[in-house]
Amino acid sequence: MITIEDLQVRYPNGTLAVDGVSLELKAGEFVAVVGPSGCGKSTLLRAAAGLQAPTAGSINSTSDHLGFVFQDPTLLPWRTVLRNVELIGELRKMDRTTRRTRAMDALSRVGLTEFADHRPRTLSGGMRMRVSLARTMLTQPQLLLFDEPFGAVDEITRSRLCDDLQHLFVADRFAALLVTHSIAEAVYLASRVLVMSDRPGHIVGEVAVPHEYPRKPMWRFESEFTELTSRVYALLGVA
Ligand SMILES: Nc1ncnc2c1ncn2[C@@H]1O[C@H](COP(=O)(O)OP(=O)(O)OP(=O)(O)O)[C@@H](O)[C@H]1O
Ligand SMILES: [Mg+2]
Repeated sequence: MITIEDLQVRYPNGTLAVDGVSLELKAGEFVAVVGPSGCGKSTLLRAAAGLQAPTAGSINSTSDHLGFVFQDPTLLPWRTVLRNVELIGELRKMDRTTRRTRAMDALSRVGLTEFADHRPRTLSGGMRMRVSLARTMLTQPQLLLFDEPFGAVDEITRSRLCDDLQHLFVADRFAALLVTHSIAEAVYLASRVLVMSDRPGHIVGEVAVPHEYPRKPMWRFESEFTELTSRVYALLGVA
């Protein structure tokens, strides 16, 4: 789905953000990236999305249906929830019936059907994030990039959003690249966790997560889960 080889991004001010990052994401694979703050995770994701030009290395993507979910849901306050979800369809000149049907379907998948006519300000932070997820699903992406999508919500909401995302993934089997600060979230969702070094970021190791989907919330308290998270910690040099 996407192959990154020896990626380097140096910003115009001279900051070398990532250097020598190689990774491959296959169709239907869920890969998480964890690493210290400022190590270049967002830079890597922006480069993967084509929003940031590499200064060296290559990025090859076979998907032309790409979705990007940011930490901030960035909803338009004057549009209803439904019309926020429809927005990308409008921009892509999708016909009205298709985009409305898909938007209602996407809203129902994240449990927000009854809020379709609400304005974003009347929703909680977690609900806004669900709208953002629904909006991304509208284009039926084959590749989804997530940059700290649940960083701004409380722990209970965060774990529910993780399960929403997991359900979407199990049903649609898009390829996903998730950047997160949460090691537990990375292990819970991903089939592989990549660990990045301090800046300039490169990948120092990888932990495979062989547990099948769907994963149950209580799996987080089993020894297999603890063992996997401790291996990620060890790679981060915390242990
Ligand atoms: N537009 C920019 N111009 C110059 N330097 C930048 C720019 N964007 C990011 N940087 C620098 O590049 C480095 C990597 O930033 P990046 O945002 O990719 O890190 P990150 O791993 O996503 O951090 P965090 O976990 O805090 O979100 C940092 O030193 C940052 O200051
Ligand atoms: Mg970041």
